[in-house]
Amino acid sequence: MTGFASRAARAAFIAGLPKAELHLHIEGSLEPEMMFALAKRNGISLAFDSVDAIRAAYDFAKLQDFLDIYYQGMAVLLTEQDFFDLTSAYLNRAAADGVRHVEIFFDPQGHTARGVPMANVVGGIARALAEAQERGITSRLIMCFLRHLSEAAAETTLDEALPYLSLIHGVGLDSSEVGHPPAKFARVFARARSLGLKIVAHAGEEGPPDYVWQALDVLQVDRIDHGNRALEDDALVQRIVSDGLTLTVCPLSNLKLCVVNDLAGHPLRRMLQAGLKATVNSDDPAYFGGYVNANFVAVADALDLTRDEIIMLARNSFIGSFLPLAEQAAHLGAIDSFAATY
Ligand code: ADE
Ligand code: ZN
Repeated sequence: MTGFASRAARAAFIAGLPKAELHLHIEGSLEPEMMFALAKRNGISLAFDSVDAIRAAYDFAKLQDFLDIYYQGMAVLLTEQDFFDLTSAYLNRAAADGVRHVEIFFDPQGHTARGVPMANVVGGIARALAEAQERGITSRLIMCFLRHLSEAAAETTLDEALPYLSLIHGVGLDSSEVGHPPAKFARVFARARSLGLKIVAHAGEEGPPDYVWQALDVLQVDRIDHGNRALEDDALVQRIVSDGLTLTVCPLSNLKLCVVNDLAGHPLRRMLQAGLKATVNSDDPAYFGGYVNANFVAVADALDLTRDEIIMLARNSFIGSFLPLAEQAAHLGAIDSFAATY
């Protein structure tokens, strides 16, 4: 165990380390208990009759198995207050994990398709983010397009978001990856870029390295979400390293969705050794068994991550964020101060 007396000591170090979370779908933080409470509040009936029955259904062989249940779960979210409560609950958990900055995804098409106004979605999330700012957690909001839908649907969603652009910092691409390459969305991402929005995309989670190339060359991403399969292509790894792009890696998600067979085979260390700016994130913590610290601890135990590797992952989380450089530097200083006391 390099740098720590025990696994418990490493977990305590991780818990106290200042960190940013850059890959978190707010709808994926909907815990079964809140799903039940919101279903009751909104008079919606669920397909499950208990919290235990919901958790028992979280057994996935691939991304699509999860997505089917994820879109079903988010149907309890209707009002501005629902989105506020959801986001506040996540921010409380993140704060307890030492998270100082969050960049949160949301899936508007999962709501507007059910008749929920964009105002309820963005309004509730943004109100919770503003309240967290008062408690010292900074944030950015990233609107994702569902890639199993058409580019025209994404264009409509971008139109609907125009009144809220002061609250939205970037756009992303998520949902069913295979069969829906980034290039399908070339025009809508070009428009988003021309509006000054940051660009991210899920790529190389289940999809091939070619989808990561498209994210770089066609969408011109500022960051790659997941990116695991980039490691299959040396030239692609070199390109990501030379562009200095961050990967938002999600270990427990990869395990639950069978992207890796076990965490001992997780590519996180190989990514760092290749010079990639990897970070650790929770993706959909209510579905995958843990928030950001649980992800850090699980992968650190499985790979026997060293103190320096853990510090590097935390540093990368701020360096890869969309915070201004001066704020990044302040967080890096806080990491140094914390590490110096340990
Ligand atoms: N939407 C929510 N979580 C996702 C994931 N891990 N991959 C693709 N789409 C998602
Ligand atoms: Zn994701």
